[in-house]
Amino acid sequence: MDKARRLIIAGNWKSNKTNAEAIALVTEIKRDLHAVTEVDVVVCPAFTALAETSKLIVESNLRLGAQNLSETGYGAFTGEIAPGMLRELSVRYVILGHSERRQFQKESDALVAKKAANAHANSLIPIVCVGETLAEREAGITEQVVEGQLRGSLAGLTPEQVETTVLAYEPVWAIGTGKTASSQQAQDVHAFIRKVLVSLHGEAVARRVRIQYGGSVKGSNARELLGQPDIDGALVGGASLEAKSFVEIVKNSI
Ligand code: 13P
Repeated sequence: MDKARRLIIAGNWKSNKTNAEAIALVTEIKRDLHAVTEVDVVVCPAFTALAETSKLIVESNLRLGAQNLSETGYGAFTGEIAPGMLRELSVRYVILGHSERRQFQKESDALVAKKAANAHANSLIPIVCVGETLAEREAGITEQVVEGQLRGSLAGLTPEQVETTVLAYEPVWAIGTGKTASSQQAQDVHAFIRKVLVSLHGEAVARRVRIQYGGSVKGSNARELLGQPDIDGALVGGASLEAKSFVEIVKNSI
């Protein structure tokens, strides 16, 4: 696929896979994708599986991501994961502000922004998620919601930091529902996100930011979604839990 930006396909395993299961899955993905160099491929297991999967992906073209990050460093913050702990395991990416954390852990845009700044300060690349609910889409306020989340979650980042941040547009109604946004619906919001980025940091920065689509991505719809001019990758949930379906998505992105 001839794209303006290098595609990035990431598997968000959410709260799935034991350490042993993660080892098996990464082993399969690594075997099946060893020849793929055209796109960035990232796997994001649970924290408990990062150490072992990290050993497996050394010297492979896979990259490792985590699903959250503390807004601070080491210290008395029970249950939090500091950036240095992830860096030691060669983690490159951290998913931040996923709608499930916004909904269930009540994460705010301001908290996401602090975590994103902490990620950048420690050479981790945040994958910042935004997206509207079904009620918001039906009320015709998708752009308003997405713009608010973007401005809030990127607040305080420098233009250089925004440029290397990965964004993920994940309409909440398309997550885990099998209801994918049509490629046109997704492209429209991606183009809008890029417009917001232009207003925040100018054309040059906006042109370089990679924006993934997430929400029921599978092998059969990946090519059409990724063929849209402003869709620069996919953040895959359910279909990333099996090597076959994840590998199919990656292959369909080339
Ligand atoms: P599904 O691919 O299962 O819809 O999940 C998308 C998602 O939330 C990825 O972060």
